[in-house]
Amino acid sequence: MTQITLPRPDDWHLHLRDGAMLRAVTPETARHFGRAIIMPNLVPPVVTGAQASAYRDRIRAALPEGSDFTPLMTLYLTQETDAADLVQAHKDGIITSVKLYPAGATTNSASGVRDFDKVRPVLEAMAENGVPLCVHGEVVDPDIDIFDREAVFIDRVLDPIRRATPGLRVVMEHITTSQGADYAREGGDDLGATITTHHLVINRNALLVGGIKPHYYCLPVAKREEHRLALRKAAISGDPSFFLGTDSAPHTDPLKENACGCAGCFTATNTLSILAEVFEQEGALDQLSAFASRNGPRFYGLPVSDQTVTLEKGAPVVYPDKIETEDGPVTVFDPMMPLHWRVL
Ligand code: DOR
Ligand code: ZN
Repeated sequence: MTQITLPRPDDWHLHLRDGAMLRAVTPETARHFGRAIIMPNLVPPVVTGAQASAYRDRIRAALPEGSDFTPLMTLYLTQETDAADLVQAHKDGIITSVKLYPAGATTNSASGVRDFDKVRPVLEAMAENGVPLCVHGEVVDPDIDIFDREAVFIDRVLDPIRRATPGLRVVMEHITTSQGADYAREGGDDLGATITTHHLVINRNALLVGGIKPHYYCLPVAKREEHRLALRKAAISGDPSFFLGTDSAPHTDPLKENACGCAGCFTATNTLSILAEVFEQEGALDQLSAFASRNGPRFYGLPVSDQTVTLEKGAPVVYPDKIETEDGPVTVFDPMMPLHWRVL
């Protein structure tokens, strides 16, 4: 196969930031993707319907002339979230879902949830009104090893929340473990999971062998090889539980190449070429459209795109090492392999 045509893909987990960074990175996603779920972890976070609407306007203003890219907005769940405002924002089509960050789990998560009982009424309102919950699934307990935080979160937090809130639709964001994939697979129609591009490519060696490589540091942190293989198996399976959420998360180089470097891999620019390479390596190019174009809309109850994107195989494609922003350069994720699939 030297050409593959997919319904225009969507990114079900994306960070666009704000200001100069927003203006620089938005075109990188809009070039190939039709829609994206936009993460609300700005500083300060997007916590009300009015703020989500204003942020959506800023994203639209950052789109290239003529782009029909659709940002799907989220609210950042806090212990003070007003359920009525949230439900109204969903009814009005301002937000598509709500994001749960355990406080302290990752970038700009300080306003997240500390006591999950405090958000029970909001979760119940979401279940009643069909508002999906996107979950950053890591515990923050200092006594839990960082490589175990996802698996422990499933047992201690996610499963109890789901049992206590029947009908709540949940997306396990950026799963990184075989436990995450197994739980998502067995969770029924109300449970989905996104998988990033980078977690299909790197294991924890990429981060730590031969010197510390800050551009491979993200959260949840990449795990052992057996987990990367489990994620690949899930992504290529065609199982509607699994869909693409790149978690493309730009930080400027000085903030990554730092004694306390930020978490995030910036993959918006080359994601589709990387995914085609990965799916070809797995002998599963025919499943790329399920993962990147069909399963996400199905979970969110949205139509599959009626536009298409075609990739063509040929000489290795060269992507820029960095994109320039007014805030400084942002390094594009290096997949450490040649990419033969060019997006036409
Ligand atoms: O690597 C990450 N970067 N993981 C997250 O959960 C947040 C994100 C960011 O906002 O930079
Ligand atoms: Zn994210």
